[in-house]
Amino acid sequence: MKEQLEQIRRNAMEKLAVSHTLASLEELRLQFLGKKGEVTAVLKQMGKLSAEERPVMGQLANQVRADIEKLLEERRSALEAEALERKLEAEAVDVTIPGDSVSFGHQHPMNQVLEEIKNIFIGMGYQIVDGPEVELADYNFTRLNIEEGHPSRDRSDTFYFDDEDSILLRTQTSPMQIRVMEHAKPPICILAPGRVYRKDEADATHSPMFHQIEGLVVDEHITMGDLKGALVMLMKRLYGEDAQMRFRPHHFPFTEPSCEMDMQCHKCHGTGQVDGQVCSTCHGEGWIELLGAGMVHPKVLEGCGIDPAKYSGFAFGMGLERTAMGRMRINDLRLIFDNDIRFLNQF
Ligand code: PHE
Repeated sequence: MKEQLEQIRRNAMEKLAVSHTLASLEELRLQFLGKKGEVTAVLKQMGKLSAEERPVMGQLANQVRADIEKLLEERRSALEAEALERKLEAEAVDVTIPGDSVSFGHQHPMNQVLEEIKNIFIGMGYQIVDGPEVELADYNFTRLNIEEGHPSRDRSDTFYFDDEDSILLRTQTSPMQIRVMEHAKPPICILAPGRVYRKDEADATHSPMFHQIEGLVVDEHITMGDLKGALVMLMKRLYGEDAQMRFRPHHFPFTEPSCEMDMQCHKCHGTGQVDGQVCSTCHGEGWIELLGAGMVHPKVLEGCGIDPAKYSGFAFGMGLERTAMGRMRINDLRLIFDNDIRFLNQF
C-alpha cells in the first residue's frame, strides 16, 4: 500500500507538471483526489490493515493528498497568472503609436472668395441680405423694367415652374433690388449674394447654376462716380493695387446709364495669347467680363415708392465664379463645381 501511494504521488506530480490548462488540472484533481479518485480508493482499503499499520498509512495517505493538493494549487495559480499575462499582452495599448490621422476639409475656394468680397463690402458699410431662389417673374423681370416678350424672359433661357411663366428660378440676383427697395427707405446700401439659374450649356465659363453678388446703393446724390469708386476699391482689395479693369458702356433695362466691367485675364495678362495660342480662358479677348452695373432706372425706383427726383442709386451684379477664377487663378469654371479633391486641396 505504501508503494501504491508513492506511485500515485509520482504519477500525480508528473502529470501535474505537464498540465497546461485549468480544465486538465481539474481532471487530474478528480482523478487523484475525487470521491472516486485514486487516493480515495487507497483510503477505502485502510480497513484491511492492522491496527499498527493503519495510522502510519493514514498519515502517508494524508501527506500524499496534501502534496498533490499543494502542487495543484501552485499549478492553478501559475496557469492563471500566465492567462492574465497573455490577456494583458493581447489587450495592451501602445500609447506611443501615432494615432490615425483625421482629415479635415476646408472652405471651398469659391466660398473663400465670397467671404473676401463680403468682408470688403462690409468694410464699406454694406449690409448682407439674402433672398429666394424660387422667384416671381414679377420681381425677376417686370418690376426691373424687363417687359413681356423681352428675350431674357424666353423659356429657352429661363427655368419656369408654371404654364403662366409667373414662377421661376431667378436668372439674376437683381430681383433683390426690388425686394429691398419695396420695404426699406434710403439710405440703402446692401449686398445680396446667391445662386442664379439659366438654361446654359456648361463650358469653361458657363454653368446652368452659378452665383451672383448683387450690390445696391440708394441715397441722395449717388452718382456713377460712387459706383466706379466702389468697384475699383473692390478690385484693388481683391487683386492688388495694380489690378487692371475696364468699364464698357452697355444696356440693361433696369439701369440707365449702364456699363459692364471686365478684369484683365489672369492667364494671358491681357495679351489674348498663351504660347502663341489663343488664350482658352478669355478666348483671346484679354479681358473677362465680371459684372453688369449702372444707375438704377428711375422707373424701377418709382415702382418701389422711391422718389427718383430726390434719390438716385447704383446697382451692380457680379459673377462670383468668374471673380473666384481670377482670384484663385482657375482656368475652367467647371472645376469649381466638380468637387475633385485634388483640385480643392490646392486652395
Ligand atoms: N443682373 C444683371 C445680369 O445678370 C447684372 C446687373 C446687375 C446689371 C445690376 C446692372 C445692375 O447680367
